[in-house]
Amino acid sequence: MKILVIGGGGREHALVWQLANAQSCTELHAAPGNPGMEECAQCHSDIAQTDHKAIIALCKHKTIDLVVVGPEAPLVAGLATGLRAEGFAVFGPDTEAAVLEGSKGFMKDLCRTCNIPTAAYERFTAAQLESARTYVQDSPVPVVIKADGLAAGKGVIIAQTREEALEAVDDMLSGERFGDAGAEIVIEEFMDGEELSFFALSDGKDVIPFASAQDHKRAYDGDEGPNTGGMGAYAPAPMMTPELENKIMETIIRPTIDGMRAKGCPFTGVLYAGLMMCGDVPKLIEYNVRFGDPECQALMMGFRGDLAAVLMACAKGELAVLDPDTYGWADDTTVCVVMAAKGYPGAYLKNTPITNLDGAERAGDIKIFHAGTSRNEDGILASTGGRVLGVTAAGDDIETARKKVYDGIDRIDWPEGFCRRDIGWRAVERLKKAG
Ligand code: AMP
Ligand code: GLY
Repeated sequence: MKILVIGGGGREHALVWQLANAQSCTELHAAPGNPGMEECAQCHSDIAQTDHKAIIALCKHKTIDLVVVGPEAPLVAGLATGLRAEGFAVFGPDTEAAVLEGSKGFMKDLCRTCNIPTAAYERFTAAQLESARTYVQDSPVPVVIKADGLAAGKGVIIAQTREEALEAVDDMLSGERFGDAGAEIVIEEFMDGEELSFFALSDGKDVIPFASAQDHKRAYDGDEGPNTGGMGAYAPAPMMTPELENKIMETIIRPTIDGMRAKGCPFTGVLYAGLMMCGDVPKLIEYNVRFGDPECQALMMGFRGDLAAVLMACAKGELAVLDPDTYGWADDTTVCVVMAAKGYPGAYLKNTPITNLDGAERAGDIKIFHAGTSRNEDGILASTGGRVLGVTAAGDDIETARKKVYDGIDRIDWPEGFCRRDIGWRAVERLKKAG
């Protein structure tokens, strides 16, 4: 199988790294890719993920058998739809199904129709500003205000007071905050509990549980500071049990896959459910239509088997006949800690040199996934993004894995970078209590 991975972040580096291990993968390409991927894939750095025409041309030129789309933006923009129309097998949903992530209002309405447990909510457009304000006045606080469209994980305001909520409503509906993404909003009930990420794979009709993880969205230790795309993750989620998995599949995932199919927009790819455990009831916070970043880095570290065969079975509608021995998981706990540029998620410096990644990998049992790096003319690696590296390791338990990761981070020479020092703290506390 010749495979093309779309994207250039840490999630895509992890996918490429694991696909390179797959027996059924004979040739691996990435567009645009990143310097970290060059060890195992041909990177087409001149092809942007937004350039659907160039991607289709590349697929034809290289006679690609399977395209794996990493990020949500090209999916929402119709890349998978375009590729399928040209006859290519794609892991990732069509535009009509990517709307599960692209519109929070759509996702909430699906929950209502299919009886999927989620926070109580209402949707409002700019023309309904007064009703939105009234709804806030009548809601208990905290209350949650969400931009309907994609806002890179930043379109959610958890308002502690009604004044703050009204301000968020005004800002979003006026288009001042989040532009078009906020032209419509969802106002919803605040749910209290522990969060959990759950990943299921679907081919449009069948769906299988894949993995669980937990991430840390806040920028600083102690889960303080601004929200980010994710500063670290670990897998599996320690609270996961076969019973809980069953409950999530039966009350949330299967009704979604069936509901989307009934609407005429079957979902193929990975359905990533952000869940809140309200007591022992899992409730849906949001859907993403791609792997989590950095959850994917932790998942790929523990994956065993032929990832290419699994993703191809989804793309081809053949999950029902996928041999269960095609894949499994190491018994380990895996951890990924993100190193970000100082200042992230606010303004940060770019083009600061990073050295000794090879040394850190050689000295410890870790893998460093690249998320925002480039190589300058002298071949020196430099930071280009906010989230720059995902330092990942496996261990018998969270403590062991975490120690490997932080030892590795201490060997990396990048004075302009920072990371959280407490990734996995909930899992560590749970381990201590159990021990
Ligand atoms: P989302 O982009 O919908 O995942 O929201 C980002 C984060 O906001 C989630 O990971 C939660 O931590 C938080 N959040 C979103 N909706 C709610 C809610 N209804 N209740 C409590 N927390 C929420
Ligand atoms: N880590 C959160 C996300 O990928 O959306």
